[in-house]
Amino acid sequence: MSQLEKLLQKNADWAERVVREDPQFFGRLADQQAPEYLWIGCSDSRVPANQIIDMAPGEVFVHRNVANVVVHTDLNCLSAIQFAVDVLKVRHILVVGHYGCSGVKATLEEQRVGLADNWLRHVGDVATRHFTRLAQVADHRQKHDLLCTLNVLEQTANVCESTVVQDAWARRQPLTIHGWIYSLKNGLVTDLSIDVSARGELEQAYRLALQRVDESLLAQQDGDSQG
Ligand code: CO
Repeated sequence: MSQLEKLLQKNADWAERVVREDPQFFGRLADQQAPEYLWIGCSDSRVPANQIIDMAPGEVFVHRNVANVVVHTDLNCLSAIQFAVDVLKVRHILVVGHYGCSGVKATLEEQRVGLADNWLRHVGDVATRHFTRLAQVADHRQKHDLLCTLNVLEQTANVCESTVVQDAWARRQPLTIHGWIYSLKNGLVTDLSIDVSARGELEQAYRLALQRVDESLLAQQDGDSQG
């Protein structure tokens, strides 16, 4: 059996298993989708949206790209956000980064990877913006983790500032934007507690989230110097 035939076989087995457990499953899904969540995450094969939050097909609308970047001129990402917010009326947008992100690492190490350098330059902009904060961390792995976290905060802010989200809030549509980070090491998500539900909430939520990042850096450094 060729590699692709194996995939098709796995697909057939999966579909059969789902129907066995819930005969109406595909019938219901084909009629409509009504997810409450939009997941914006990294394309990394180790960070599959549905599996991580244990959600069935139909429960989460997903947009993924290298290093979970939200750019105001990226029609692909903006269209996913617009469709999710205006048509599906999702209640929550989850911006989910992950520690150990290769895209973030390439940025941090100024590694050239090719065309994607231009995309990753947006993460570079995050690093430039937080240059002083990053410079305080000597340990390379910690610095990498820190840039992954900062990238989530910045991309979460970008979602909040998009016209789609601003317009939804202006018409009082219930919609909250969140920033999360996932650990490849234990499969756990950490909520960065940047939750924004209305125009005007972003500034404080962003500032408090950054403050928590700084506090945990200090605690880490204290721990390092004592240990
Ligand atoms: Co990644």
